[in-house]
Amino acid sequence: MYVCICFAVSETELSGVIAAGARTEEEVGDACSAGTGCGSCLDRICDRLSAVDPLHGLRVAADAA
Ligand code: FES
Repeated sequence: MYVCICFAVSETELSGVIAAGARTEEEVGDACSAGTGCGSCLDRICDRLSAVDPLHGLRVAADAA
């Protein structure tokens, strides 16, 4: 199953990128390009990042405020 259609990034690949230390959408994009195209997968990437870092979503909301 792909998380990011634009760059054919799978759930497995995203899990590997996060396991390797990516903690922001930017770091994920740098590592595998996911989220750097149309952006429609950013919510899914954010959900995955929030699963390993519960403060992730809060930081995103604070940055947007
Ligand atoms: S689906 Fe990920 S950037 Fe388009």
